[in-house]
Amino acid sequence: MTQHSTRPETMKETDVIDLLLAQHAMIRDLFDEVEQAPAGERGEAFTRLVRLLAVHETAEEEIIHPYARRALDGGDGVVDDRLEEEREAKELLQHMDQAGPDDPDFMANLAVLRAAVMAHARSEERYEFTRLRAKTSAAERRAMAAGVKAAEAMAPTHPHPGTESATKNLLVGTPVAMMDRVRDVIRKATGH
Ligand SMILES: [Fe+2]
Ligand SMILES: [Fe+2]
Repeated sequence: MTQHSTRPETMKETDVIDLLLAQHAMIRDLFDEVEQAPAGERGEAFTRLVRLLAVHETAEEEIIHPYARRALDGGDGVVDDRLEEEREAKELLQHMDQAGPDDPDFMANLAVLRAAVMAHARSEERYEFTRLRAKTSAAERRAMAAGVKAAEAMAPTHPHPGTESATKNLLVGTPVAMMDRVRDVIRKATGH
């Protein structure tokens, strides 16, 4: 599999719902990669998964969920449930990162994480994205897609050669540290 397949900022989708659905598929594929990687390469594949989850979930939290809160009837309840799911997944991600890919429980934890992340993605699709699509115009969804891509481009999962030093520091360290830094750049860029 090529590295291109985990660059969320370069995806072709111009509608934010299509874009996020495609990223969910990308996340699923990366779980496959981690599961199928030989033991010696598992850590590297897991790091790519952590980076993708960090930029995807943080972009949702900063751009999509706040919009859904305002636009949907009962939006606060829908979003609070999604944030709780994201929080639980992050805790397990943090634990797995600390324990490392050689931990004897790594594959069992990976299966639990996968089930939680994919259930969360299905809940977003069913309770949040479908309703958001019905409540927004195509122009609004295009604008949000541009916002998500711009946010993800500021925290590239595969920095281009040459820009490496400027962006590299963003997606290193623990999953929580990565997400905090991504959140920081998104907030600075959006003026929040
Ligand atoms: Fe999410
Ligand atoms: Fe998502």
